[in-house]
Amino acid sequence: MAIAGTPASIDAREAMERLNAEAQALHIWLRTQANAPTQRPWFRETGLDASGRTARGRVGAAQLKPLAHRWRWVEIAPYLERIARIASSAEVSPIEFAERQQFLLTNPGLGGRLQVTSTMRCAVSIYNPGDVAPVHIHTPNASRTILSQKGGYTTIDGERCEAARGDLILTPNGTWHDHGNDGVEPVVWIDVLDFPLLEFLDCVWLDEAFAGERQGNARAQQVSRPSDYSRKLYGRGGLVPRFVPHQRGFGRDTTPMFHYRGVDIRDSLDGLCRHKGDPYEGIALKLVNPATGASLFPTLDYGAQLLRPGEATGLKRETASTLYVAIEGEGVTEIAGQDFDWRENDIFVVPGFAWRRHRNRGDTNAVLYTVSDAPLLEKIGQYRAQGRMPDDSVAELV
Ligand SMILES: [Fe+2]
Repeated sequence: MAIAGTPASIDAREAMERLNAEAQALHIWLRTQANAPTQRPWFRETGLDASGRTARGRVGAAQLKPLAHRWRWVEIAPYLERIARIASSAEVSPIEFAERQQFLLTNPGLGGRLQVTSTMRCAVSIYNPGDVAPVHIHTPNASRTILSQKGGYTTIDGERCEAARGDLILTPNGTWHDHGNDGVEPVVWIDVLDFPLLEFLDCVWLDEAFAGERQGNARAQQVSRPSDYSRKLYGRGGLVPRFVPHQRGFGRDTTPMFHYRGVDIRDSLDGLCRHKGDPYEGIALKLVNPATGASLFPTLDYGAQLLRPGEATGLKRETASTLYVAIEGEGVTEIAGQDFDWRENDIFVVPGFAWRRHRNRGDTNAVLYTVSDAPLLEKIGQYRAQGRMPDDSVAELV
C-alpha cells in the first residue's frame, strides 16, 4: 500500500490529474484532495494574529478569505470629486452618470470581487445638485450612511427622507426607492448591501418598471406619505402603533422604519455615557426593527458605539464579519494582531474569527457605526462570540 508522500502516491496523484484533464469536458472532477475549509479551529486556535488560511486547488464557493482592511477617507475621497467632475463635464450626458456616481470598496483578500466581506458590498456615492437615481426596486437590502452635513434625499415607498450627517436611511428588500440631490452642494454617503450573499444564493432581482405615479420627468416616485412618516409612527422607543401593517414592500422581516437620524443616535449615546458599558464594545447601541425588536434586516445588523477618551475595549472575536464607519473622533482598532488607526469617515472591516479591540486615542468621544452579518449566522445556528479575560483565558460570550 502506498504511504502519503512516497513517490508511488505522487504518481497516483499525477495519474488522477491526467484523468481529470480528460474528464474536464464532461464537467466532472475526480477528487484528488480534501476540500479543506479555510478556517482554523475555533477552540484550538486562539492566537491573535492568524484568522485563517486560503485553501488551494479546487475549492467550494467562498473559499477566499476576506482580510482585515481599512480604507482611509483622505485617500479615497478625492476619487469622488474626480468621478463627479467627469460626470458633470459638457461631453458626458449627465443622466448616464447620475444613476451611480460611486466607487465600490474591494476587500484585498477577495480577488477583486465587488465586496468587503462574504456577505456585504460597500460603495461610496456622490450626488451632485440635480442628480437623480431613478426609481427602482430590488431584492438586496440596502442602506446609506450619510457623510455630508446635509442635503440629498431618498424616497422609499412614498416616504421622502431628507438626509443629514450620521443618518441611516434604509431601502429594504422589495421597496421602491429613488435618490437625488435638489440642494446646492454635492452630497456623499456610504451604501451597504447584502448583495454578495444574495448573488451567492442566485436571488438578486431588480426592476425599474415602476407602475405608480411619478414626479415630473425625473423618474422619481411621487411623495405619498406625510413627512417624517416612519419616525412619527415608530420614533419613540417602546411604542408601536396598532393601526398600520408593519410590512412595507414585498420583503419579509425588514424594518418598517426607514430613517434613523444621526442626532437621535448621538443623543442616545450621550445619554448613556455615564454607564459602564460593554467591556468589548463600550457604549453600544443596536438599531432595531421597532415592530419586532429584531435586526433591521434579516441578514444585517446595524449598530452604533461610543468610546470615551482613552477608553480601550477587550479583545473579542465573532464568527460574523463587521464593517465599521468612523463617524466621529479618532482611534485605533487592532485586528488579528495588526493595528489600524482611523479617523472621521474612514471605513474598515473585521473578518469573522479575527480578534479585535478598539481604543479611542483622541481627547473627545469617538463614534463608530457598525454593520454585521451576525443575524444571518444566528439564523443558521453559526453565530458565536468569544472574549479574552484579563488573565488571558478565553470566555464564551455567545
Ligand atoms: Fe437601490
